[in-house]
Amino acid sequence: MTPDGNRTPVLALQGVAHWYRTLEVVTPTDLAVHPGEFVCVVGPSGCGKTTLLRLMAGFLLPTTGSVLDSGEAVRGPDSRRGMVFQQPHLYPWLTVRENVEFGPRVLGISARQRREIAESYLKLVKLSEFAHANVWELSGGMQQRVALARVLANEPHILLMDEPFGALDALTREHMQDELLSIWRRTGTTVVLVTHSVEEAVYLSTRILVCSDRPAKIIADLDVPFSRRDVDARGESRAVKADPGFVTFREEVLQYIWK
Ligand SMILES: Nc1ncnc2c1ncn2[C@@H]1O[C@H](COP(=O)(O)OP(=O)(O)OP(=O)(O)O)[C@@H](O)[C@H]1O
Ligand SMILES: [Mg+2]
Repeated sequence: MTPDGNRTPVLALQGVAHWYRTLEVVTPTDLAVHPGEFVCVVGPSGCGKTTLLRLMAGFLLPTTGSVLDSGEAVRGPDSRRGMVFQQPHLYPWLTVRENVEFGPRVLGISARQRREIAESYLKLVKLSEFAHANVWELSGGMQQRVALARVLANEPHILLMDEPFGALDALTREHMQDELLSIWRRTGTTVVLVTHSVEEAVYLSTRILVCSDRPAKIIADLDVPFSRRDVDARGESRAVKADPGFVTFREEVLQYIWK
């Protein structure tokens, strides 16, 4: 708790700026992400969204300012902050289950326990029957679900996702959006997700951050007026996205990007 009674943010940026040599990519930014939020970050290509996410993960350290995880300074990557990339980046020499067991193995968890962990997360992403498959035998969407299970097996308290569905076809992408919403509802994990798609952002998130052109600055911080938290989205995503309230809000968000 902070002195004013608010919960400590899962992740906070305090005056965070980033320069690649002489190129300013992120201007001094303040941000607090609270437990259970689903935050989507949208903005023009090349504006600095991936850089922002890498700063949150600890893969990059800010040029100025600080990133705080539960009030403590981030000094490098940590399995408690799980990162999912546009490409699944699985280990091709390991089976599906071995990929998911990888994090718990590194953490020194016993063979029996990590098998249980892997099985429970493979079930969550609906891939139990592919546990013994080679990863290169799976479709792109299935590989991305393995990547998600592999990150979830570390039980991160925040999931950082960089265009995780960007490489998928439209139908698989819609299916994955509903999978992610369902996982978010069941695990209560905090999520920060970068996407090019404003529609995806409005569909998934509780809050949308719109970034300016490079150097990235948060020009709008919007609460999404309808939350997918309490509903079973399966089978109704088309209807939700066609709803007049949804379309109006999506257009409002787009106005910030086109300005
Ligand atoms: N490692 C690096 N070294 C130097 N410049 C970099 C590096 N990574 C990114 N940049 C530059 O920083 C700027 C922002 O890149 P970043 O990848 O964060 O943007 P982005 O918003 O994620 O773009 P996109 O929407 O295309 O994914 C770009 O101009 C890019 O060329
Ligand atoms: Mg990017």
